[in-house]
Amino acid sequence: MAEHGESHWWYRATRSLLQQLVEPHLSHDTAALNMDAGGGTGATGRWLCANAPTVLADFEEFALQIARSDTPRYVPIRADMNHLPFSDESFSAVLCVTALCHRMNPDPAAIVADFARLARPGAVIALMEPGGKKLWRGHDDVTHTARRFSIAELRAMAEGAGLVVQKATGAYSFLVPPAYLIGRFERKQANSDIGRNQSGLLGLFALLAKAERWWLRRFRIPFGLSAIVIARKPT
Ligand SMILES: C[S@@+](CC[C@H](N)C(=O)[O-])C[C@H]1O[C@@H](n2cnc3c(N)ncnc32)[C@H](O)[C@@H]1O
Repeated sequence: MAEHGESHWWYRATRSLLQQLVEPHLSHDTAALNMDAGGGTGATGRWLCANAPTVLADFEEFALQIARSDTPRYVPIRADMNHLPFSDESFSAVLCVTALCHRMNPDPAAIVADFARLARPGAVIALMEPGGKKLWRGHDDVTHTARRFSIAELRAMAEGAGLVVQKATGAYSFLVPPAYLIGRFERKQANSDIGRNQSGLLGLFALLAKAERWWLRRFRIPFGLSAIVIARKPT
């Protein structure tokens, strides 16, 4: 992730997608404070720092070091998402991308409930996780994934935490067939997607992702390699 976060087509497309979905809900208050929970190196969330100071809470010290040097406006804090050391209503936005799925997190619903506790009234909480239960492949093993989520599961966790869902959608729908085939053919080989296909079939995937973003401006997609929920804490 440290090596490929800038250049890999998926990271570039995901930053654009999240910006499109989350930015309209961000606070422009001078006291705004965001959190990128399980933010790793900041590869999908560093754009949040342009809105307001952003706490990057992650357990992995090496990732925090990279985030600190690449994005000085991040406030990197070593923390476990299962026991986040922040007071109630601290954050005006919480982003969490491909972290609830991790083996470290036996109870993702409890973590989402904690995000709701930490969010200020009106704050946006954006969750993006591996989608499609049947799309398990070697990449999940390499990235210490314990579970993939359906869109309905992600929505239920947000609603169970008292949040109001603004959008629940799949994304990267065009990657479902290749991911399914990779899962079938690679069987139990632990191969990561991150190091391969940097260009996304010479730019084709980036173009498809752009078309999908255009669609997602107005509509939703009922399936995808990722599941996304954008929710707000009631005021
Ligand atoms: C697949 S990476 C995603 C990183 C980043 N969100 C991104 O999209 O590039 C998962 C990250 O979640 C972090 N993580 C997972 N469970 C965590 C926990 N309970 N507490 C803190 N960090 C956690 C890992 O250390 C890792 O950096």
